[in-house]
Amino acid sequence: MNNAPNKRVLIVGVGGLGTHMVHEALERGAQVSVLVRNPAKLEASIDVETLGRLHKIFVGDATDPAALDGAMQDIDVVLSGNGAHKKMASEMAQAVHRNHVDKLCWPAGGTNLMSEDALTPAYLAHAGAGFNAEAIYKAHQACIDAIRETGINYVILCPGRMTSAGYRSPDVRSSVRINRPVGMSLSYEDAAWVMLEAAFTDGWDRELVGASTPR
Ligand SMILES: NC(=O)c1ccc[n+]([C@@H]2O[C@H](COP(=O)([O-])OP(=O)(O)OC[C@H]3O[C@@H](n4cnc5c(N)ncnc54)[C@H](OP(=O)(O)O)[C@@H]3O)[C@@H](O)[C@H]2O)c1
Repeated sequence: MNNAPNKRVLIVGVGGLGTHMVHEALERGAQVSVLVRNPAKLEASIDVETLGRLHKIFVGDATDPAALDGAMQDIDVVLSGNGAHKKMASEMAQAVHRNHVDKLCWPAGGTNLMSEDALTPAYLAHAGAGFNAEAIYKAHQACIDAIRETGINYVILCPGRMTSAGYRSPDVRSSVRINRPVGMSLSYEDAAWVMLEAAFTDGWDRELVGASTPR
């Protein structure tokens, strides 16, 4: 698969989702750089061959404007592997703007738990599950607001629970439910597909995208 010839992407934060975005971006033929706080963690989570295929590994904090500017030189699209961090959302969006990056793809969450004027089926399903849905919703919404305030181009993925399924859904383009409230969870593999599809196409620009993996 190569639908990203010459695309230069920066993946910021290589945890669960970030690791899968690295693999998805390389599979699509992109030039992939990463910005991480801890290179030892990166080396523990990505195999040696994949590490060798990375264009550049930047070490720094994604709330640090200098670190962001250094990593965003000659980058087309930035994908965040971390969400629910207002300072990081704000600093990354401003750096995307300063460095003339085409787009920021950001993972949100909690947005399936509540909406501005209603409780959603997902919230009702999780009621009593022991977490503060309102706080989660507000933390993610603050990031979305911070990104929008900068006026940059963005796509924001709003999944439910995310974990690895061990494989990407077969025929992911037609099997992953995008923008239809039909499931509560999204595999990292399918989430990475959605994030890279958002990065390299323009159909979801300036939108919040919901997606779920079929059971
Ligand atoms: N997992 C879910 O169920 C779920 C559901 C909905 C939405 N989300 C959203 O999706 C995001 C990704 O999920 P995930 O499960 O992949 O999370 P994760 O495994 O915790 O990965 C987050 C990554 O971001 C990095 N990071 C955090 N702060 C940073 C900073 N200031 N500078 C640079 N890197 C930083 C972390 O680096 P370190 O290793 O250095 O800490 C880690 O590698 C979450 O942050 C959340 O907002 C997650």
